[in-house]
Amino acid sequence: GAAAAGGAGLWWTGGGGQALGGGRELVQPEVLSSRDGALDLALEAAPARVRIGARTAHVQAFNGSLPGPTLRVRPGDTLRVAMTNGLDDPTNLHVHGLHVSPQDNGDNPFVSIAPGETFDYEYVLPGDHPPGTYWYHPHHHGHVADQLAAGLYGAIVVEDPDPVPVARERVLVVSDITLDASGNLAEVSPPQQMMGREGETVLVNGQVRPEATAAPGERELWRVVNACPSRYLRLTLDGQTLRLSGRDLGRLPEPVELTEVTLAPGNRVELLVDTREGTSTLGAAPVDRGSMDGMMGGAMPGDGPGNDEPIELLTLEVAGDRAGDAGPVPAGPSLRDLREEPVEARRTLDFAMGMGGMGGMMGSMRGPGQMMSFTIDGQQFDAERTDQRVRVGTVEEWTLVNSSPMDHPMHLHVWPMQVVSEAGRDVPGPRWQDVVNIPAFGEVTVRVAFEDFGGRTVYHCHILDHEDLGMMGTVAAR
Ligand code: C2O
Ligand code: CU
Repeated sequence: GAAAAGGAGLWWTGGGGQALGGGRELVQPEVLSSRDGALDLALEAAPARVRIGARTAHVQAFNGSLPGPTLRVRPGDTLRVAMTNGLDDPTNLHVHGLHVSPQDNGDNPFVSIAPGETFDYEYVLPGDHPPGTYWYHPHHHGHVADQLAAGLYGAIVVEDPDPVPVARERVLVVSDITLDASGNLAEVSPPQQMMGREGETVLVNGQVRPEATAAPGERELWRVVNACPSRYLRLTLDGQTLRLSGRDLGRLPEPVELTEVTLAPGNRVELLVDTREGTSTLGAAPVDRGSMDGMMGGAMPGDGPGNDEPIELLTLEVAGDRAGDAGPVPAGPSLRDLREEPVEARRTLDFAMGMGGMGGMMGSMRGPGQMMSFTIDGQQFDAERTDQRVRVGTVEEWTLVNSSPMDHPMHLHVWPMQVVSEAGRDVPGPRWQDVVNIPAFGEVTVRVAFEDFGGRTVYHCHILDHEDLGMMGTVAAR
């Protein structure tokens, strides 16, 4: 909270971005779709100049646009990406949420693409891959937060062979960025890294508070991606309930009516919006995700605009002749429930922050005065070490414990997680996610079916500064 913000202007100025402008028609990122079972494309991560509000911003982007192109594939397709590093730092690519092999040139988080080099990724989606909204972003340890904060992300849609009929779909990639007066990317401070940086300006498809228009009586599908490096989005649609039709792993058996839905960094939701005359605003309400104030003796700065004041993301203007009635929503797939399957092993992972961190923070943080370490089971990330060994073809139950005073959203690559209990209470219905928030001093239990692929990959906090500071472990499935 901002209460402890003595002198915090040094680190952030809340909400300043909202003054940048708005009222522009929402644009969709360029769409690249698969044909005959394959999508081949080149992606270059490079410095770019883009328009943000009224100013020219010097960012980093995929193929010169922020967000990068939306990739549309189908279950069973092969996605080939020739990824070129046009940056000054090493980078690589992660297809967040896709259930594809982590080996070799698949979704391999250990690949390092040096500046000037190209790496050819090939991702083969199983024929029963869940349709839904996914995304891509760089994943080079030590540079992930910087590269997302600079503008490197894009959406992936795995098309539903049996979709809900809608008048139109909109992909809404929500991100945040901090620019200085000349439109350059601002430096991040050590305290911001500890809290997880939140950019001053919140963007939807690279735009500040854009405007979408529709006729009354139309049904739209909104695919919302939280591509912010650290910001939680507690979404509201003023005056209306949100009709949640899908989460990270796609379609729900039936839509759920909610007054709000919270996306941790990395999460997606699919919303069905039945338009009605007038103006409504998709907003992000303040979020309490714990605070390090206690630990830091009340000296921490506020942790960004999202935690303190509501943000307007998008305005929907509905006017004109009534388009008719959208009708009932057909039922979605019934979801697998791992609670009905035998569990091979149970383990507990402990997410912690500590003072001191031998050889950790000192070596990995820039600038003086840092002394906090981010660990899982007492250890910082080491690519050479294997932290969990699992057997392919088995179901495991992992209890994720947070012994720190702030939330950590945990992401496991390749294999989706079913959330079975939160704070000791059963979660009704199969709820599948690939990022699961572990509340401050709380715990969450998930089940994972380690199947279809063997190989070695990672799990980590999706507050990407925490990941870069060591809150990541490795898992090998054999
Ligand atoms: Cu979206 Cu391992 O990351
Ligand atoms: Cu974290």
